[in-house]
Amino acid sequence: MTRFLGLPLVALGSVALATQDAFQSKCAEFGDQIDIPNVKVNFAEYVPGGTNVSLADNPPSCGSLSQAVSADLCRVAMAVKTSNSSEITLEAWFPREYKGRFLSTGNGGISGCIQYYDLAYTSQLGFASVGANNGHNGTSGEPFYRHPEVVKDYAYRSVHTGVVVGKELTKQFYDEGFDKSYYLGCSTGGRQGWKSVQKYPNDFDGVVAGAPAINLINLFSWSAHFYPITGSPSSKTFLSTDEWQIVHDEILRQCDSIDGAKDGIIEDPDLCRPALETLTCDPSASNKTSCLSSAQVNTAQQVLSPFYGINGTLLYPRMQPGSEILAAPIMYSGTPFQYSQDWYRYVVYNDPSWSGANFTVKDAAVALAQNPYNIQTWEGDISAFKKTGGKILHYHGLQDQLISSEDSKWYYSHVSNTMKLPPSKLDEFYRFFQISGMGHCGSGDGAYGIGQGLKTYSGDNEPEDNVLMAMVQWVEEGKAPETVRGAKFVNGPGSKVEYKRKHCRWPRRNVFKGPGNYTDENAWQCV
Ligand SMILES: *[C@@H]1O[C@H](CO)[C@@H](O)[C@H](O)[C@H]1NC(C)=O
Ligand SMILES: *[C@@H]1O[C@H](CO)[C@@H](O)[C@H](O)[C@H]1NC(C)=O
Ligand SMILES: *[C@@H]1O[C@H](CO)[C@@H](O)[C@H](O)[C@H]1NC(C)=O
Ligand SMILES: *[C@@H]1O[C@H](CO)[C@@H](O)[C@H](O)[C@H]1NC(C)=O
Ligand SMILES: *[C@@H]1O[C@H](CO)[C@@H](O)[C@H](O)[C@H]1NC(C)=O
Ligand SMILES: *[C@@H]1O[C@H](CO)[C@@H](O)[C@H](O)[C@H]1NC(C)=O
Ligand SMILES: *[C@@H]1O[C@H](CO)[C@@H](O)[C@H](O)[C@H]1NC(C)=O
Repeated sequence: MTRFLGLPLVALGSVALATQDAFQSKCAEFGDQIDIPNVKVNFAEYVPGGTNVSLADNPPSCGSLSQAVSADLCRVAMAVKTSNSSEITLEAWFPREYKGRFLSTGNGGISGCIQYYDLAYTSQLGFASVGANNGHNGTSGEPFYRHPEVVKDYAYRSVHTGVVVGKELTKQFYDEGFDKSYYLGCSTGGRQGWKSVQKYPNDFDGVVAGAPAINLINLFSWSAHFYPITGSPSSKTFLSTDEWQIVHDEILRQCDSIDGAKDGIIEDPDLCRPALETLTCDPSASNKTSCLSSAQVNTAQQVLSPFYGINGTLLYPRMQPGSEILAAPIMYSGTPFQYSQDWYRYVVYNDPSWSGANFTVKDAAVALAQNPYNIQTWEGDISAFKKTGGKILHYHGLQDQLISSEDSKWYYSHVSNTMKLPPSKLDEFYRFFQISGMGHCGSGDGAYGIGQGLKTYSGDNEPEDNVLMAMVQWVEEGKAPETVRGAKFVNGPGSKVEYKRKHCRWPRRNVFKGPGNYTDENAWQCV
């Protein structure tokens, strides 16, 4: 605006108005101009910053009927055919304050839900952002039933189609096109990021992949195997949430101080091998409020053990200790885990009556042998992506209650072994950060606010506090992140910051050296 300072106020106002009109009318006209094969535009509408956008069409199970938008943008909603019998619903959000960067968001669970909060977050940071519904609507796996094209969309085609169409639209909408292309996702979104790296190495210059649901078939089986261990809430083997609290307290008693700080946060679960027999009630004790039956101790031990297949091969590593409280109401709730049960019903067995109550490792072998569209997402050779100059920032919360962070470490070593590259070489294009005190993509007891989504950042989105902006800096300035600094919030995401902590990149681990308080980020060192 500086160059208009000499103009009278009236002229200034009309300049501002004219600018606004140009963007608005460009948006209004854009819908009719789009002519891309298989794309049907539903609408293009201007959304002024500060609007609470109504999402009346969003499937009810997606659980979101509105989205607050803070930046002026042009919202384009489309249907894109992906085969004769399948389509994605795709949205592109083009901000007025555009920074010349394209970005794709991802999805979660087995859901077909556009992640509007990620579109709001990334468009507000100046990215031309796209998000798709993963080929189906809602959070059930039922649309997969006898419909392989929908499974294919879920495995890889939804994101890739959104990228191909989204890049074309971005070039058409902005005269300057885009310079760099990014991806941000967590959970299934993390898997989709890795799938792009493995299968479409040219789709992105920078990928931020959190808590990835890679090794997916075995993840479904691992999630299914908890119910047969815990049994229903009336079983002798079952633990209530209060009883999981007893287990958690004992794990912290044995492991919290290993990193040098007694702060309720385990910095390196690898060093935590809790002995849980200590929790077995003394039969003669009269007070049994802080001990467990031997059947319950056995449950806790099994839950925290690696998951082996029918012939003794490792299918999925153990749940990392420290996640008990968050995991109890979901994974150890005494009911079969829905996503797993849906996968077995609608994909593995084509039998809607199949019950997760009867899951065994024999089922795990059947499922793994299928691996439709290589949805496992476990390729160890990512040299094609490396060759393009692409960068990956992979992170995983160490209190993740849904996807064990140990699977991420396993994948890292798989890549390292397959490509014969030690961590010092992988660091050139692939960095993995363990985020202590972070649950599944967020929440948790520690400094989990790393800019992975709305309200999870602190300050001004500087690269050191924001994984996405750290990726931008890496791609565009060649400055790779040494650490990822997280914010611990006093009272949930977006509230006051209690302290910050720098998280280390694997295989380094965080050690409290002092002096002073564990809340002091400089009292910690990556070793
Ligand atoms: C947006 O609107 C919905 C209902 O229409 C309301 O529940 C929600 O609180 C509003 N959000 C904001 C940020 O105003
Ligand atoms: C789509 O349908 C047409 C006409 O039935 C058929 O020729 C074509 O092979 C189908 N394409 C795919 C990808 O299945
Ligand atoms: C998903 O819902 C949208 C909006 O209601 C609808 O237009 C689209 O056809 C649905 N997609 C599928 C695959 O059912
Ligand atoms: C039983 O033990 C718990 C935990 O050690 C303690 O808080 C509680 O007061 C004890 N109850 C009785 C009746 O002694
Ligand atoms: C589990 O398997 C048993 C025996 O194969 C069968 O009788 C029972 O109906 C199954 N339970 C469920 C919930 O499917
Ligand atoms: C063991 O089982 C896994 C998974 O089911 C399979 O991939 C592997 O080939 C099996 N190994 C042997 C030696 O049978
Ligand atoms: C460190 O800070 C926390 C939170 O402010 C406080 O509760 C604790 O007492 C402090 N510990 C020491 C040793 O100063």
